[in-house]
Amino acid sequence: SDAIAMHIAIIGTGYVGLVTGACFAEFGVNVTCVDKDAAKIALLEDGRVPIYEPGLDVLIEKNRRAGRIHFTTDLKAAVHRALVVFIAVGTPPNPDGSPDLSQVEAVAAQIAEALDGYKVIVTKSTVPTGTGQAIRRVMEECCPAGASFSVASNPEFLREGDAINDFMHPERIVIGCEDPQANAILRDLYAPLIQTGVPLVATTVETAELIKYASNAFLAVKISFINDLALLCDRLGCDVLDVARGMGLDSRIGSKFLSPGPGYGGSCFPKDTRALAHLARSHQHRLRIVEAGIAINDDMHEAMLGKIKTLLGEPYTDKVAGMLGLTFKPETSDLRESPAMAIAAAIRRLGVTLRASDPVAIPEAATLLPDVTFCEDPYETAAGCDLLIIATEWNLYRRLDLERLREVMRTPAIADLRNVCDPMQARRAGFRYLGVGRR
Ligand code: UGA
Repeated sequence: SDAIAMHIAIIGTGYVGLVTGACFAEFGVNVTCVDKDAAKIALLEDGRVPIYEPGLDVLIEKNRRAGRIHFTTDLKAAVHRALVVFIAVGTPPNPDGSPDLSQVEAVAAQIAEALDGYKVIVTKSTVPTGTGQAIRRVMEECCPAGASFSVASNPEFLREGDAINDFMHPERIVIGCEDPQANAILRDLYAPLIQTGVPLVATTVETAELIKYASNAFLAVKISFINDLALLCDRLGCDVLDVARGMGLDSRIGSKFLSPGPGYGGSCFPKDTRALAHLARSHQHRLRIVEAGIAINDDMHEAMLGKIKTLLGEPYTDKVAGMLGLTFKPETSDLRESPAMAIAAAIRRLGVTLRASDPVAIPEAATLLPDVTFCEDPYETAAGCDLLIIATEWNLYRRLDLERLREVMRTPAIADLRNVCDPMQARRAGFRYLGVGRR
């Protein structure tokens, strides 16, 4: 088949669906993005992008003008045109930690009803091992006579804020698929990347599903390891950044994902670690390291609050704190499972008056945090404060003018939850300073 002429459909115009759609369109594939949310589709047809991801608006606009990416609520028409249908709908967590797969299953049934001829149905959403099988069963029930399909798993490894680059320059492509015909079609779709030498891991649907969970859980555990060690460094008077550097230069360990902070957040790590631990337990196995990683992450908020209390001192109700950064990491507007937001709420519960700032997330944060004064820039945030808390490492907060901060603050103190300041410099500038595992 000819990759240039290939038509694909992507069901779900969330983060993963839009990035995947825009990037395949950029490769010359004809992409139809489908969503049941008519307002979102209207917005996209109007050339606007409902999420903040650097470069995504430009990429969508370019390919929209070239006629390679379309937006519709008509799932049936999109499936008719497509050879490959990606499922990229949400899998929000259930109270027990397992993901809610009702949207995935509903979409699978709708795709099956729309089938004509042969198509490859691919899960992009992160789903537990066994979901591919479940999709196959749902589809077999709804599939009209004469139609046929293969089910495949093709997990994504996109980071928010870097998603386009991660798609265009992946370190691997994982395709889980037992059927040779479907395998050939997916390899063809990814040919522009495979040809440039990106390694392909070809395996079963179940194993591909597990690779995604295992990768996210390993990274989450790596963060919890360095966070736990940072708290020990606080007690020992060691510098965790030197420890991380000394460890990370061993290529078996690697230097990435060893930055201590207030704990991992976002829509992936917290959810996927819990889902994997839940999956293991439902198979009579306990993934003890993953469970420990989750417990450490849960404890990080309390540990950060401890530093904040130390610097503020009682009575808390007389104190004013300023928080810089609210998103779960820089270069995203995503507040989901953001440690900054959890810590902000805990600070408010202490009775501390809170001022806060963020380069992109203030409008949404304001709906979640009542009784917080939102400010435009770091210096306005710090005005009259007894403590400045750096909660997310936006570049804007990496070179703060300490003199200017000290002049506007009531009491000069910094809780640097992302280790962006130099502790010596901050102390020389007259601040009481606590980082995470810094001397
Ligand atoms: C993560 C994975 O990195 C992607 O590969 C994966 O595709 C994605 O989840 C997903 O499952 O969809 P993302 O959630 O966008 O991507 O964010 P990361 O950049 O991985 O950061 C996650 C959290 O860990 C952030 O809160 C960040 O501040 C924290 N982190 C990261 C640390 O605290 N320390 C580090 O050293 C690294």
